[in-house]
Amino acid sequence: MGEMHLFVTAGRGTEDFVELELQEKLNAKRIKKTDGKIFFQTDLDTSDVASSINHLKCVERIFVCVLHKNDLRITSAWKGKQQLETAFKNISRTEWMDCYSTYRHCTRLQHCVTECCAAEQQTEGHRYKIVNNVSEHQMASDPDAKETAAVCEMRHMEKTNSQQLTNVNSMNKGCKRRKVEVCDTITFRISCKVSGLPGRFFKAQNLGISLGILLKHHMQWKADLRNPNVEVFVHVNNQGLMIGIPLTRKPLSEREYFQHIGLRTPIAYIMAQLACIQAGDVVLDPMCGAGTILIEAAKSWPSAHYIGSDRDVQQLTKSTENIQKSREMARIELMYCDALYLPLTDKSVDVVISDLPFGHIHGQEKDMYALYPKLVHLFNRVLKTGGHCVLLTSEKLRDFLLHTVCSDTVLNHSGHEDKDLLNMQTSAKIRELQQQPTEDVLPKESRDILCLELSWIVKCIHYVKLGDTHAFICSFVKS
Ligand SMILES: C[S@@+](CC[C@H](N)C(=O)[O-])C[C@H]1O[C@@H](n2cnc3c(N)ncnc32)[C@H](O)[C@@H]1O
Repeated sequence: MGEMHLFVTAGRGTEDFVELELQEKLNAKRIKKTDGKIFFQTDLDTSDVASSINHLKCVERIFVCVLHKNDLRITSAWKGKQQLETAFKNISRTEWMDCYSTYRHCTRLQHCVTECCAAEQQTEGHRYKIVNNVSEHQMASDPDAKETAAVCEMRHMEKTNSQQLTNVNSMNKGCKRRKVEVCDTITFRISCKVSGLPGRFFKAQNLGISLGILLKHHMQWKADLRNPNVEVFVHVNNQGLMIGIPLTRKPLSEREYFQHIGLRTPIAYIMAQLACIQAGDVVLDPMCGAGTILIEAAKSWPSAHYIGSDRDVQQLTKSTENIQKSREMARIELMYCDALYLPLTDKSVDVVISDLPFGHIHGQEKDMYALYPKLVHLFNRVLKTGGHCVLLTSEKLRDFLLHTVCSDTVLNHSGHEDKDLLNMQTSAKIRELQQQPTEDVLPKESRDILCLELSWIVKCIHYVKLGDTHAFICSFVKS
C-alpha cells in the first residue's frame, strides 16, 4: 500500500504545535494546514500509525482521509448539491474499502493496546487472570478479544524472557500479521457539519441524509444511527469538502485517565512543552484546579517532581481524584493553600506553569489586576535563575501580565515581534489603575510591585482559543 492520507483536527492556535508533533511521531509529509484541520500523508504502515496515535498529545481527533476537495465553488444550493454529490459518487469502492480497512486495523490495534495497558496495571497474578478471562469469555465470539489475548500473551512471553517491557510498537507487529477482516454487512452513520457560505444553502441534516443514501447504494453498507461499525464525518465549509473516518472512537484529547475535566489537555501539554522541563526539576502549578497541567506534564516528563496547590477544596478533590486515576500519585504532591502564601523557599522551583484565573469563573476580572502582580512577585521569589514560567491568561489580561513581568526595556530586548504588545490601550489601562484613588482595584501592594523591575525575558506568546475565549500562553525565563 502507498502513502496513507490522514487528517487531524486541532484547537485554533495550536496548529503549529500539531504540525511538529505529526512530523515527529507520524513522519508526516505534504502537510496542509487549514483552519483547525491539518491534512498530511505518511509512509508509516497501519500498525505504526495505530501505535503512534496514543502518543499524540496536541491533536484533538485523527481521521483517515476519504476525500479532501478544496476546489469547490459553491454559489447556489442547486449547483452546490450537484457538486457535492458528484464528488461523493467519484470516490471508488476500492477507496472506501481501503479507508475502512485502515480504520478497522487501527481501532483493533487500539483495542489491543488499551486492554494490554489495563492488564499491565494489575498485579502480576491479576494480569494473567485477566488475559485468561478474555480467552474464556470472549474468544469464541469476539475476534478482537482473540487479538487482545494474543498481544497480552506476547507481552507476557517477552517479559518472562527478561527483556525490557515491549513498547506498543512491537506489540502491534504481532497484530499486523492478522489480516483485517471485513464483516458481512458494514453499518455506518454519517455525521455532517456545514459551515461558512455553504451553510446558507444546506442544512447539515439534509445533506447527511442525501449522502447516506448515496453511500448505501454505492457500497451496500447499511445505515445504523445507534451502533454503527463506522462513523463517516463530512464537513463542508468555505475551504471545500472533507470526508474522513475517525481512527479512534473518542477524541484523543479526551484522555481516559481523567475523571474530571479541567483545561483542555492539548493546551496543558503544549504549556508543559514550552516550559522545557528537565529531569529532576521541581515544577509548580500554584493554581492547579483539577490538576490537568500537572498530570499532562508528569505523563510526558516523568523524571520531574510536581507540586500543585489550590485554595478551593472542591478543585483539590478533583485534582486528587484525577491524580489517582492517572496513577501519578508518586510524582505529584498537592497542597491546600492560597498561592500567595505558598510555603516554598526562595529559588526552590525550576518551572512554574499555571492556567491563571481570568476573572470569569474564579473571581472577577477587576480582582485580577490586584492578584497578578502579587503572583508574579511570588513566582519571581520561588523560581531559580534561568527558571521557566509559562502562564495562560485571557486576551484582556495578557498585556497587563506582560507589563507586570517585564519593563519596556526587557521587552524591547526579548526579540519579540508583536508591535501591539504594550499597546496604547494597555498603557492607558495601567495608568488608570495606578491613578485610582481607592485601593479597590489595585491595592498599594500590587501597585508597588508594578514598579519593580524584574529581569525576566519573554520567550514567546501564543494565541489559543478556549471555547469562545481568546487566550494567550505567555512563556518567560527568569534571567
Ligand atoms: C483557571 S482555574 C485552573 C484550572 C486548571 N488548570 C484545571 O485544569 O482544572 C484557576 C484556579 O485557580 C484557583 N485560584 C484562584 N485564586 C487562587 C489563589 N489565590 N490561590 C490558589 N488558588 C487560586 C481557583 O480555585 C481555580 O481552581
